[in-house]
Amino acid sequence: MKLEALVVLSALLVGANAHGNHHKIARNLGARDGSSSSTLSSTATSSAGSSAASSGASSSGSAPPTSASGSGAAPTVTTIPIPSNLPSPPPGIPPLQSISSGMPTGTTAMVPATFTAGATPSFAGAPPLPTPFIFVQGQWPTMDVPPPTNSTQVQEWMKELEGVDIPDLQPTQDGDCSLDPAFAADAKNRGWWTCGGWTAPTDIVACPDKMTWGVSFDDGPSQYTQTLLNYLDEKDLQATFFVVGSRVIERPAVLIEEYMKGHEISVHTWSHHPLTSLTNEQIVAELGWTREAIKRVLGVTPTTMRPPYGDIDNRVRAISLAMGLTPIIWTATPSGQKFDTNDWRVAGGQMNAIQQFESFEQILGNATIINTGFIVLEHDLFEITVDLAVGFTLNAAMTHNPPFTLKPIGQCMNIPTTDMYMETTTNQTYKAQRAAALAHENQTAASSNPSGASTANSASPATFSLFTAAGALAAGFAMLF
Ligand SMILES: *[C@@H]1O[C@H](CO)[C@@H](O)[C@H](O)[C@H]1NC(C)=O
Ligand SMILES: *[C@@H]1O[C@H](CO)[C@@H](O)[C@H](O)[C@H]1NC(C)=O
Ligand SMILES: *[C@@H]1O[C@H](CO)[C@@H](O)[C@H](O)[C@H]1NC(C)=O
Ligand SMILES: *[C@@H]1O[C@H](CO)[C@@H](O)[C@H](O)[C@H]1NC(C)=O
Repeated sequence: MKLEALVVLSALLVGANAHGNHHKIARNLGARDGSSSSTLSSTATSSAGSSAASSGASSSGSAPPTSASGSGAAPTVTTIPIPSNLPSPPPGIPPLQSISSGMPTGTTAMVPATFTAGATPSFAGAPPLPTPFIFVQGQWPTMDVPPPTNSTQVQEWMKELEGVDIPDLQPTQDGDCSLDPAFAADAKNRGWWTCGGWTAPTDIVACPDKMTWGVSFDDGPSQYTQTLLNYLDEKDLQATFFVVGSRVIERPAVLIEEYMKGHEISVHTWSHHPLTSLTNEQIVAELGWTREAIKRVLGVTPTTMRPPYGDIDNRVRAISLAMGLTPIIWTATPSGQKFDTNDWRVAGGQMNAIQQFESFEQILGNATIINTGFIVLEHDLFEITVDLAVGFTLNAAMTHNPPFTLKPIGQCMNIPTTDMYMETTTNQTYKAQRAAALAHENQTAASSNPSGASTANSASPATFSLFTAAGALAAGFAMLF
């Protein structure tokens, strides 16, 4: 099983230059393999053989998908039991049983780009959109790797930590419980979410109102995000987008669409590394550059963040809060079931879409019996994860009996939109804390103009084009969570 998962990923990762991706993905898939059934391995094998292989698995109703092998290996047949009550998707979205990591790609939606500089967002006090973002080599760190910590910017942002008690916890090995048994055994004291789901009172983990889903999407903006935005628009829904800084400078127009359509924007780091594995300086660099990228594109800076993989401990928490970013994770039941749509597992060839949908129905089932609302992990990085959201998960919640109420996380938490951004917040406590943090900082360097960037490790044009094309998909696989 693990071997086959690795084969799939090797195929998908061709072209990736982000060091460490293979390891990270292998760990994610391997570590979470326990719940998968044996039908998955042949799905994985067929995907690895050829991306065209599963076109044979197209929309033929109830016939189980058959795979052909593009690599000369013996053909394998995938047996997926197909329940009779599968929902039908809206136009343009494949049937559930056809959504797999080897499926042919569909068309991507055009980004309308109707919002120009000076356009004003709908919430009170929002500043007009700044001049259009233009990527300039040398102004930003290399995409998809932790930014260098010796730049003037990171050194300035480090001053926000002055006077704050940052717990002296040693970085973990890759945010992995099994690689750090001693830390994992001490997870409660470390507040380490990854190993046991430990949270702190400052974390946002669930919407307060029962039957309310705080909807969010991680790891974009991607080339598939617009399809999701069109659907949300059609259904008059808003969500919270946890965006990766490297993707923000790659697709600023999509970020503008999200923000101007009333969705909430939150920080999801620069390179999507597990934060507990990084030094204090590296964490500051990851959060700081993402804040900076969002501010440059939108003119506002989020007041919230989500740690990649949910990997947070008391050190990461203290650093995030010192930088004005409140952590948002996702809900777990009292018995420890984490509310993860598992959409990333389908994209990674590790779970089929029917199993994914059934696991999501269990989340909805559990959501009806807990006393609060909830927050679920879901992604807009891949076509598959967008298809699953647009075709199935959102609709399942809206058509549930009784129906769930879908809101962005800030709204479900009763946080006014103004308070989701540093420039517009009216929360006096927060403003006082920010002013104290910034008093340590050189205001010139902390402003939104990154032209003084001095990162030695800036993206070269070659690196940039790699990541905008095939590399974006490959690099994205480091971001499956
Ligand atoms: C940061 O460190 C790298 C090597 O680690 C070096 O090449 C670069 O010049 C340094 N940049 C600054 C601004 O000190
Ligand atoms: C809650 O989730 C578990 C799986 O973790 C599932 O077995 C159970 O049926 C779910 N409960 C409800 C009420 O759906
Ligand atoms: C105001 O900000 C503080 C500090 O971030 C936070 O603890 C508090 O919950 C916020 N108050 C409101 C009403 O949102
Ligand atoms: C802040 O940084 C600027 C250069 O970016 C420098 O000219 C100025 O002297 C610095 N101010 C302080 C108080 O360090």
